[in-house]
Amino acid sequence: MGFAIIKQPMKKLFIIANWKSHKNAEETKEWMEKFTVHSSQFSVDHKEVIICPPFTMLSLLKSYLLNLKSIKIGSQNISPFEEGAYTGEITAKQVADFAEYAIIGHSERRTNFFEDEEMLSKKIVLALANKLTPIFCVQSAQTAIPQGVSVVAYEPVFAIGSGHADTPESADKVAAEIKEKNKIPFVLYGGSVEGKNVNSFTQMAHIDGVLVGGASLDVEKFAEIIKNA
Ligand code: PGA
Repeated sequence: MGFAIIKQPMKKLFIIANWKSHKNAEETKEWMEKFTVHSSQFSVDHKEVIICPPFTMLSLLKSYLLNLKSIKIGSQNISPFEEGAYTGEITAKQVADFAEYAIIGHSERRTNFFEDEEMLSKKIVLALANKLTPIFCVQSAQTAIPQGVSVVAYEPVFAIGSGHADTPESADKVAAEIKEKNKIPFVLYGGSVEGKNVNSFTQMAHIDGVLVGGASLDVEKFAEIIKNA
């Protein structure tokens, strides 16, 4: 009698680029041209690759991605207001012309723009009403998560942009706790992710992908992350 080999289905991984306040049109064009060449060298089967550029580049990125339909677009933020006299704000409805996802609650927004739980809950409601999938950032397992969120990114502040990622074991423990407490299906890790450490996170049982800041600005580094994830 032999052993039955049960093949585990491959889990879906989110690989997200957060460009923050970087790149103008020329730099976006250069990144996209190189990315298109790289994309022939990796498979995105089981991978949801999402690029989150600044608002000003959403339209241009969408036009470049017409030939690369497997790559998705996200915004880095949305307004807490539906629409109206809110000078300088970009609403979920406007973002939805270009994107399928929206990062909400990044620690840089909580710190620099005083975004609190109440404001973030409003953003989640508007994102969902406009068919944007929120990628909700939390800084620990204790951070409140609004109803309706299905993708969470755990990003400990000490690891963001520092070159000192959390350990995969610690990140996995937090991811498990977030899933358990909030019934969240997908939890990603973010903070100093690079090509050489990405797999140590994505191979963990409770981690479903990565949110990448600095390393996503360099197309070679981002392509390496997709390949190694
Ligand atoms: P980092 O940023 O990859 O540069 O650490 C991650 C993030 O802020 O989302």
